[in-house]
Amino acid sequence: MSIETRPTPETNTVESSSELIRLEQVTKRFGDNTVLDHLDFSVDAGKHVTLIGPSGSGKTTILRLLMTLLKPDEGTITVDGQRLFPASDKEVREVRKKIGMVFQQFNLFPNMSVLRNITEAPVTVLGMSKDEAAERARGLLEMVGLADKCDARPTQLSGGQQQRVAIARALAMRPQVLLLDEVTSALDPELVAGVLDVLRDIARSTDITMLCVTHEMNFARDISDQVLMFDSGRVIESGPPEKIFTEPERDRTREFLSAVL
Ligand SMILES: Nc1ncnc2c1ncn2[C@@H]1O[C@H](COP(=O)(O)OP(=O)(O)OP(=O)(O)O)[C@@H](O)[C@H]1O
Ligand SMILES: [Mg+2]
Repeated sequence: MSIETRPTPETNTVESSSELIRLEQVTKRFGDNTVLDHLDFSVDAGKHVTLIGPSGSGKTTILRLLMTLLKPDEGTITVDGQRLFPASDKEVREVRKKIGMVFQQFNLFPNMSVLRNITEAPVTVLGMSKDEAAERARGLLEMVGLADKCDARPTQLSGGQQQRVAIARALAMRPQVLLLDEVTSALDPELVAGVLDVLRDIARSTDITMLCVTHEMNFARDISDQVLMFDSGRVIESGPPEKIFTEPERDRTREFLSAVL
């Protein structure tokens, strides 16, 4: 399998560190509910970082901030040295091209074929020719095991197949960062393994930086370089998976893991 990733570095990169994603003192409130409270964290280029933590702790909110589906109330977010917040619309558009996301609910375009779901953004956003986009889409579909589904509609696919199309669609934009939010939690149990296998493959064979929210602890253990334990909008503990899963330092982490493992 081969997946092209966009070459780095880009023009207005301001720092030479290997940090690709950086959140500094990020606060997000919904009304008087402070969901993220002066959050700091960074993800190095090429690393696979998993966010774990209880429901409502702010994991999805972080991914939504990075997708610019939400704006923070305070703080700064940079990706590859370029500002995502605060930033002009133009800066945001540039940075957004580096980030792909796969959601829990696949969010495919129901009225388009599988192939078109994958080619649409490369053609309209990246200006790729239709032929090149189609050729790449076929390659990606082969990679996710769906080469024969180009002409199908999303509704003709199983949940696991739809999610694999969604992964191919995200990769078609050649993101530097792939955000994954509980991508298997809406699937029937027998479909989970196939999707996780595809993601393991991507983690192994590409240099895409992955930031992943998951309740699949075995998967997290397999692919992660670093696990961040989240509670009430703060990272309360972080480290390599072997440390977090076998000898966590915080009682809260132990309590959470014993409930989910
Ligand atoms: N659009 C919104 N409007 C108001 N409150 C919101 C909104 N989105 C999230 N919240 C609140 O923010 C908090 C964090 O939500 P978030 O979805 O980030 O949690 P999570 O860690 O992803 O939880 P889960 O594991 O259940 O997915 C919750 O208290 C939630 O109710
Ligand atoms: Mg969530």
